[in-house]
Amino acid sequence: MPYYIVVLGTAGSGKTTLASALQDYLINNGMDATIVNLDPAVEILPYKPDIDAREYVSAREVMRTHGLGPNGALIAAVDMLALRIEELKEEVWSLKSNYIILDTPGQMEVFAFRETGPIIIDALIGEHKAVSLFLIDVVYASRPSNYFSALLLSASTHVRIGLPQINVLTKIDMVPENIIQEILSYHEDPSTLAAKVVSDKKASIMWSESEILEVAENLISSEIIPVSSTKLLGYDNLYAAIQRVVAGGEDFY
Ligand code: GTP
Repeated sequence: MPYYIVVLGTAGSGKTTLASALQDYLINNGMDATIVNLDPAVEILPYKPDIDAREYVSAREVMRTHGLGPNGALIAAVDMLALRIEELKEEVWSLKSNYIILDTPGQMEVFAFRETGPIIIDALIGEHKAVSLFLIDVVYASRPSNYFSALLLSASTHVRIGLPQINVLTKIDMVPENIIQEILSYHEDPSTLAAKVVSDKKASIMWSESEILEVAENLISSEIIPVSSTKLLGYDNLYAAIQRVVAGGEDFY
């Protein structure tokens, strides 16, 4: 039985690059890993998808035939993909690999926060063991209130998708080590994050420090895995975190 890994995150957070690097990592460590591209709008991929949503429906084609703009076409294309879910599922379920990586559309709100995205994920995963990875770009997360807001978005995505979820801090090669350590330290002591969020006036409009602390404590109760997909850093830890969820910590073999 394959394990499913769903890659989620805001536009540009590094989903496609991570999907490709994770596939390479798994293959280099003796496992079979395939990738399903679920983005009908993507133009260029750094990997060759084993199954490609664009063969079912192309957002570019929908733009042309339905006279829609890029966002409308992506919404319509994902809805059209959902209509062909049985065909897509049959193709995905015929894959013979240990891991099946689902690379989701760039504009995650179109996928995670509309009706059809979770329907597609649910149908493809069925009864298989699965985990979602929520990607947070370290450059964005280096500002405390941004990190807090990214964690809120991760929680909101988790509620929508309903899978065990691992937060992944991406592109760590782009910032100095102390920034990464600072973000990791919030997971040891959420009050430091809450205090910084409060000192950023924009973020404390809605909540008091004690309320922010309460939310922060809940949001950062789980770990975050720092990785660089271009430099292949942190992938042993990412693999171990995935295994903890899908296989109780056991290696595939
Ligand atoms: P869309 O689906 O196009 O919205 O983006 P995405 O979330 O799939 O992100 P993608 O993998 O396309 O990465 C966005 C940009 O970040 C690209 O220019 C990547 O080359 C770059 N990138 C991704 N991962 C890393 C990384 O680990 N390090 C560095 N330095 N750049 C990265």
